[in-house]
Amino acid sequence: MSSADPVPVLPGPDGQSPASPAPQATKALVAFGPASVLVPPPGDTATFPALQAEIRQLARDHHAVILSHSYERPEIQDVADHVGDSLRLSRLAASAPESTIVFCGVSFMAETAKILSPDKRVLLPDLAAGCSLADSITVEQLRAWKAEHPGAVVVSYVNTTAAVKAESDYCCTSSNARAVINAIPADRQILFLPDMFLGLWLQRVTGRKLSIWLGECHVHAGIRASDVEQWHRELPAAELLIHPECGCTSQVLEAAGDDVHILSTEGMVTYAQGSSAEAFLIATETGILHRLKQMAPGKRFVPVNPEAVCQYMKLTTLEKVRDSLRLGVHEIHVPAETATLARLALERMIAIS
Ligand code: 13P
Ligand code: SF4
Repeated sequence: MSSADPVPVLPGPDGQSPASPAPQATKALVAFGPASVLVPPPGDTATFPALQAEIRQLARDHHAVILSHSYERPEIQDVADHVGDSLRLSRLAASAPESTIVFCGVSFMAETAKILSPDKRVLLPDLAAGCSLADSITVEQLRAWKAEHPGAVVVSYVNTTAAVKAESDYCCTSSNARAVINAIPADRQILFLPDMFLGLWLQRVTGRKLSIWLGECHVHAGIRASDVEQWHRELPAAELLIHPECGCTSQVLEAAGDDVHILSTEGMVTYAQGSSAEAFLIATETGILHRLKQMAPGKRFVPVNPEAVCQYMKLTTLEKVRDSLRLGVHEIHVPAETATLARLALERMIAIS
């Protein structure tokens, strides 16, 4: 494995040479990177049990279910009814019997829950919980891209706004992206958006040529092949678990081949539980470590880059979850017409796994 981290050569929108609309992903990093979000400091752990008991009582009083993504703070994961990846949480949101969903995650996840459960009240504890990846394509940009490729099938990663989903044929998550691509007839052109690293990995594992939007998540793009290489030298027996949004995916696959496991966050949990290995190098947002340690106790999990922290996910605190339940804030609404179209793409995603 090389210690150098060259900028990967990426295909343009037609899978060929870099071309329009390449530059906006880079701009998005500047606008939506870490400096623009103020994350509350870690809470006082001594206050957690009382706050968590209050939240559980409020959830009962308001007939609410609390869903948490695996990147949330440990104390949020611990108070939630369910913790999981985007696909698992979407399924749970769709089937939850409760009348209120408190979504401890980011705004596109809460929107997805609302689209799948239009009659439920969906609350997001902090409206500033956005996503740099979802912000890397607007609905206007998608419409223009579609106009350049009439007849192409649009597959959107779930990390997109409701308006972008409404312009899409299929949604997918990192758990089922490969199955979604494989479900589309081989003779159809596919526009895949917005994550270029996931798109490149999908091209590799499906053998399909995709037209890929050049967006990225600033957290995963910041995990470099050199981070993995350094730890791989230190712990050669450890297994490498890498999220497909990571910027290092292609380089690490080239260098390490079959020793690497490209997995969604939930896939990492399931893999670690079933593996006989005792140590794992984890390339994704560090919040997953709490869940991995809980679900596969006694094993060692090492974040290859401990600074891979999603500021948006860390905006949610216990106080904000309590206030969300107490005050009924912040309720998520999706325009009916957008929701109807987006639901089709999401239901196709949920049907494929
Ligand atoms: P998954 O939870 O689907 O693996 O996605 C990771 C992510 O970045 C969510 O924002
Ligand atoms: Fe978005 Fe990246 Fe944060 Fe996931 S980790 S919510 S993709 S910014």
